[in-house]
Amino acid sequence: MISTYEPVSKKIGHYSANACLLPICSLHGIAVTTVEGIGCTKTRIHPVQERLAKCHGSQCGFCTPGMVMSVYALLRNHPEPSMEQIASALAGNLCRCTGYRPILDGCKTFSEPFCCQRKENGNCCLDQEGKLEGEKTPIKLFSADEFQPLDTTQEFIFPPELMRMAENEPKRTLVFHGERTTWISPTSLKELLELKAKYPKAPLVVGNTSVGIGQHLELLVCPDMKFKGVYHPVIISPARILDLNVVRYMDNGLTLGAACSLALVKDVLTNAVSELPWEKTKIFRALLQQLKTLGGQQIRNIASLGGNIISRKSTSDLNPILAVGNCILNLASREGTRWIPLSDIFADGAGNNTLTPKEILVSVHIPYSRKEEFVSAFRQAQRRENSLPIANTGMRVLFAEDTDIIMDFGIFYGGIGSTSICAKQTCQALIGRHWNEKMLDEACRLVLKEVSLTGSAPGGKVEYRRTLMISFLFKFYLEVLQSLKKMDPHRCPDIPEKYRSVLQDFHTKIHQNKQIYQVKQLPQDPVGRPIMHQAGIKHATGEALYCDDIRAVDEELFLAVVTSSRAHAKIVSIDTSEALRAPGVFDIVTTQDVPAKNEFYIFSDPEILFAKDKVNCVGQIICAVVADSEVHAKQAAAKVKIGYETLEPVILTIEEAIQHNSFFEPQRKLEQGNVDEAFETVDQILEGEIHIGGQEHFYMETQSVLVVPKREDKEMDVYVSTQHPAFIQEMVASCLGVPANRIMCHVKRVGGAFGGKVVNTGLLASVAAVAANKTGHAVRLILDRGDDMLITGGRHPVIGKYKVSGKKCCAQTIGPLYANLFLREDRVCKTNLPSNTAFRGFGFPQSGLITESWMTSIAAKSGLSPEKVREINMYKETEQTFYKQELDPENLVRCWKECIEKSAYYSRKIAVEEFNKQNYWKKKGIAIIPMKYPFGFNKRFLSQAAALVHIYTDGSVLLTHGGIEMGQGIHTKMIQVASRELKIPMSNIHFCETSTTTVPNACVTAASVGTDVNGMAVKDACQTLLKRLEPIISKNPKGSWNDWVKEAFEQSINLSATGYFRESLIISMLYIFYNIKKVKVFIISHSQIEGAFVQGIGLYTMEELKYSPEGVLYTRGPAQYKIPAVCDIPEQFSISLLSSSQNSYAIYSSKGMGEAGLFLGCSVFFAIWDAVTAVRKERGLTEPFTLNSPLTPERIRMACADEFTEMVMRVFFWNTPL
Ligand SMILES: Cc1cc2nc3c(=O)[nH]c(=O)nc-3n(C[C@H](O)[C@H](O)[C@H](O)COP(=O)(O)OP(=O)(O)OC[C@H]3O[C@@H](n4cnc5c(N)ncnc54)[C@H](O)[C@@H]3O)c2cc1C
Ligand code: FES
Repeated sequence: MISTYEPVSKKIGHYSANACLLPICSLHGIAVTTVEGIGCTKTRIHPVQERLAKCHGSQCGFCTPGMVMSVYALLRNHPEPSMEQIASALAGNLCRCTGYRPILDGCKTFSEPFCCQRKENGNCCLDQEGKLEGEKTPIKLFSADEFQPLDTTQEFIFPPELMRMAENEPKRTLVFHGERTTWISPTSLKELLELKAKYPKAPLVVGNTSVGIGQHLELLVCPDMKFKGVYHPVIISPARILDLNVVRYMDNGLTLGAACSLALVKDVLTNAVSELPWEKTKIFRALLQQLKTLGGQQIRNIASLGGNIISRKSTSDLNPILAVGNCILNLASREGTRWIPLSDIFADGAGNNTLTPKEILVSVHIPYSRKEEFVSAFRQAQRRENSLPIANTGMRVLFAEDTDIIMDFGIFYGGIGSTSICAKQTCQALIGRHWNEKMLDEACRLVLKEVSLTGSAPGGKVEYRRTLMISFLFKFYLEVLQSLKKMDPHRCPDIPEKYRSVLQDFHTKIHQNKQIYQVKQLPQDPVGRPIMHQAGIKHATGEALYCDDIRAVDEELFLAVVTSSRAHAKIVSIDTSEALRAPGVFDIVTTQDVPAKNEFYIFSDPEILFAKDKVNCVGQIICAVVADSEVHAKQAAAKVKIGYETLEPVILTIEEAIQHNSFFEPQRKLEQGNVDEAFETVDQILEGEIHIGGQEHFYMETQSVLVVPKREDKEMDVYVSTQHPAFIQEMVASCLGVPANRIMCHVKRVGGAFGGKVVNTGLLASVAAVAANKTGHAVRLILDRGDDMLITGGRHPVIGKYKVSGKKCCAQTIGPLYANLFLREDRVCKTNLPSNTAFRGFGFPQSGLITESWMTSIAAKSGLSPEKVREINMYKETEQTFYKQELDPENLVRCWKECIEKSAYYSRKIAVEEFNKQNYWKKKGIAIIPMKYPFGFNKRFLSQAAALVHIYTDGSVLLTHGGIEMGQGIHTKMIQVASRELKIPMSNIHFCETSTTTVPNACVTAASVGTDVNGMAVKDACQTLLKRLEPIISKNPKGSWNDWVKEAFEQSINLSATGYFRESLIISMLYIFYNIKKVKVFIISHSQIEGAFVQGIGLYTMEELKYSPEGVLYTRGPAQYKIPAVCDIPEQFSISLLSSSQNSYAIYSSKGMGEAGLFLGCSVFFAIWDAVTAVRKERGLTEPFTLNSPLTPERIRMACADEFTEMVMRVFFWNTPL
């Protein structure tokens, strides 16, 4: 949080900001508060920290400090915020684990009233009481009564010395010299203009959100910007100059200084809208419409109006409105000042003329709108909030008084060209026309002709963006029509009733949720209760240590990798000379420095540490630089020159791999019965294909490792963020050629992994270990987000081709499928992209989607509802699954029925159909998707686990097991298990770290079995210990735990025990119901379920990987790759357990929920499919169709074929004259 003091008004301001973007020099005289500063476990924790932790708003904890500080900054300004303010404060924060619901729940406790307040009538919304049979104890997820109140008088004050400095010290120019850059912050406009004249190339940095992140944002358009190593020798900061911070109400409009933050602009405009007559504020309202979703709060707090305008990015949401709104720019240089229309800076269509390098923008004048003038702004982005627009627009029309005759028209588009562009000729041609459908039709045709967007336009999505251009126009047409009608009902034609809903804005309602637990046990037994994450408070105070938080070791070096920029090439030269001369460089490590094996075999094809002669993908590690700092290592890595000779073919897609017959062997096949024969006798066959895109793990903590060589016996400590320390140990030992007993791997906690921290981490840890071995120094390697995404693979993309048939049933065409007859053939493609790896669900989310997609297609073809087809094909009695496991479907059937009943599925379905009949441009969809998830590994030895439990003579217990804490709360659960087994409070038990020294050969924590197998091992160890204590306990039954332990020690009883467990396959069964914004899940282990579900929504509807034709990943950060944010979660999310269901295979009936919930996110996919079906049906398109995943706004829009998509196709593809 940033706090400022303004000496004239004596006002203190607080706002949140992105630490990664704030230049340190901009913080002179400003107070910065971090999460450590608001509370800690040693003194007192802050209510925000307490509530986020106790409401289960933290899993891996990596995002938690950011969440805490966003809410803290909000509370400093609004101690009782509304839910809307909370959601807005969190819009710029990402969490990959929780699914946001518990975070919002924690924050909700600050808003008044935070619950339904119906306590006097019985239950309130916080009483999460189950109504299930046999339930005795009412369970709340948290107890609000125990929260400390928020006392604003207890907050830190603004540092008085900074206040005195601001009041007493005369303002003077500040100059900071860095190693490569000089930062100059003048105090007067005159001085600024002199500086600009002296350094015309120096950027004027205010928020640094464009200069600082420019390369990342531009990746989609210009992928090599990131590698250009742009830096500025001089930076000028104009933030302290009063002329650039003015807010002036004038007779004809509002003048805003160029350095005003977007948050301030939003506040000023909101104020103006509330005070000025409606007709004067139409431009203001259009700007506010865009500002609502522009960036997150943290960005708006620091990004400036001038920076947004002058950057002239195609993605600016403000420029199209400011341009059509005839706003004026006040420019100044040493030569004088001038006023120009803002639209002039886009006059050449490239946005690079008009301003001279010595000129600066002082202020912007936004005029008041007129009575007969209408202005609107629209945008479409991959995600609703905090996402750059795919396309946007500002549109304005002025009518002759009391008529619908167009006097003036303005259209500007963003996202279409290299900057905002004007449809000038179209607007000219429409002057004098009446505002009617004929005009609209003409306008669409003219715009499509005038605003060119060729097939190879940067950013792709050409058809879609063209469709958006005219769809925006149509919406503007309707909006204006509605306003004209309001002014005078006789002025223009009526809007048909069923079109009207399109004019209503999309409003997010307050999230509601319900988690139903079943607890039938003694109050002191912690198992099955919603216990706070053992490290929750430490996550929230910033005290929890991750790999990169480990204090620097003496003479530690930092490593940066040099990766291939070619997808398939021979390495002809590696020139490290320049890099070796760079400042701070210690050494360069290549394949020659690997003491033993450069290849590591898991399967038949090896994992390669350093590429030697040849590279197989962009991002493959070739060598690494070790230097005295991260910055120096990265700067030097950029100076290593690699010579390539391109090899053919370059295979980047599944289709290309098929074409080149490029596969991994062996081919996999699952077969039952003679399928070919069966197809010959059936009367109906359905064939189809579905494409499912890959997914990036996007764990919040990127790959991290610190290798510390010890000075004796080739020992090494490896502190690493991994799910599988034993694997890292093996791989490091193999490349160094030492026995595994010299490599000690330690994992305290992992900031999210989801399958991505096994093989990839092994490679990176080995690279760091080779460097540590060569240099004798400790080596730290922390990948930045871009490199992490570039180097490491994610979830596999899949193309599923199917051919299905079924029996005739109840006079319908297709009934039950021949479920016991199947043939499945899988081929794994070998491409020139980074190798994909495990990701939550590993294959199930893709194959499940293929199955449910042909189920949906069968329904469309047969005329049955999708849920009926699914029901017909369910297990009816005990049967063998295709993986040869006997399955009693009783729980499955109960689950399905309960879900249908409790969600009122059929009445909701009727309501959806009714809504769709009434609304032409808005549709709803509904889906219920069943799932049977076979979790665990197909190799039995991978489901073994061990634990080590020590009891100390003071009665405290130290617990260790082989599982890794990566957000799922495994240590908390293991402590719960030990607490139940030893019958002692959880507070007596401590967990320190997972290490290869305490539990050897531990299996990977993955496949949803971590808790089950490690829990059994912990139980085993505890039972051994208890058995040893039993004679002492029975002799002194009234004694305390400490008495028994003391006595045991005195009797020389061993107070340390190992536990062990091995297991076969377990099955869990789940069902889900989804209704676009309302979700009902009937399952277990709630927080994992919710988090996985939201990750599934991301997979199936949002997360899209994009590559250049050369195989370079474009989507290398949160700006281009959108994971679900707070705005994407279900408005209603109910989770309940299937009542009285037992699972004798798993510990305390644990349900192994880590992965299964992810697939359930596909119910959103199928609900959208349902809505698209309704659209198509209404437009006469009744043929079955398939939708690919992710079902992005682009795919949805293009599947909703209508007159606009057709118009685009005619112009663009068929080249038909309009
Ligand atoms: C995560 C993120 C999300 C975003 N989302 C959106 C979005 O949804 N919609 C959108 O429209 N924008 C979005 N942006 C862009 C953001 O609005 C702009 O980057 C911001 O407004 C630029 O202001 P700044 O002060 O940070 O500019 P800086 O980075 O400080 O400067 C940008 C450029 O402007 C020049 N400049 C600045 N002030 C002046 C001046 N007074 N005179 C002359 N030149 C000047 C500088 O020389 C520099 O070249 C996003 C940015 C980020 C980082
Ligand atoms: S808890 Fe939010 S990212 Fe892990």
